[in-house]
Amino acid sequence: MFKIRKATFEDLGGITEIYNDAILKTTATFDTEPKTLEEQTIWFADHDSKHPILVAEQDGVIIGWASLSKWSDRCAYSDTSEISLYIREENRGKGLGRELIRAILQEGDSRGLHTVIARIADDNETSIHLHKSVGFTHIGVMKEVGRKFGRLLDVHLMQLIYNS
Ligand SMILES: CC(C)(COP(=O)(O)OP(=O)(O)OC[C@H]1O[C@@H](n2cnc3c(N)ncnc32)[C@H](O)[C@@H]1OP(=O)(O)O)[C@@H](O)C(=O)NCCC(=O)NCCS
Repeated sequence: MFKIRKATFEDLGGITEIYNDAILKTTATFDTEPKTLEEQTIWFADHDSKHPILVAEQDGVIIGWASLSKWSDRCAYSDTSEISLYIREENRGKGLGRELIRAILQEGDSRGLHTVIARIADDNETSIHLHKSVGFTHIGVMKEVGRKFGRLLDVHLMQLIYNS
């Protein structure tokens, strides 16, 4: 059994461990170098009352996390956010991603966000499928904007607008 709850600063180690593993092994993120705790501290602090971070915890271990981050610092974008969602490798494919995405989207709604954007590499079929299944629509493709593991990657842009 796992529980989903608001992240605290003490969770940052567990969050970073999952993220750094995805940096090294997947195209889910276009970061290529593992993040330090200092860098992650800045990322964490950039999430204010409108921008939630949630974690899934099982037996005291962080097994997944999701966030809605600022899309831009320019004020007119203040109701627009970008989603991130990462499940620990051993815990993938068991429905946790679906639980977490539902929970983070609910948080965003209750905090007054208007829209959520997802940027997903073209080879991440699981993520594209998952986002579509919770109401995101495909709004475009940025062609060949990433290069990772020696491959050029397209990025799919998907968007959810609350109450649309
Ligand atoms: C993408 C990710 C968040 C999905 O979470 P998960 O817990 O593994 O997924 P779930 O078990 O909740 O399954 C979600 C859906 O994807 C489907 N799915 C699982 N593996 C799949 C695959 N290889 N191809 C296509 N769909 C797949 C499931 O069947 C399920 O759909 P359904 O309910 O309609 O059957 C998770 O795999 C992950 O963290 N991956 C690495 C990081 C990442 O890609 N993050 C997203 C960045 S945009």
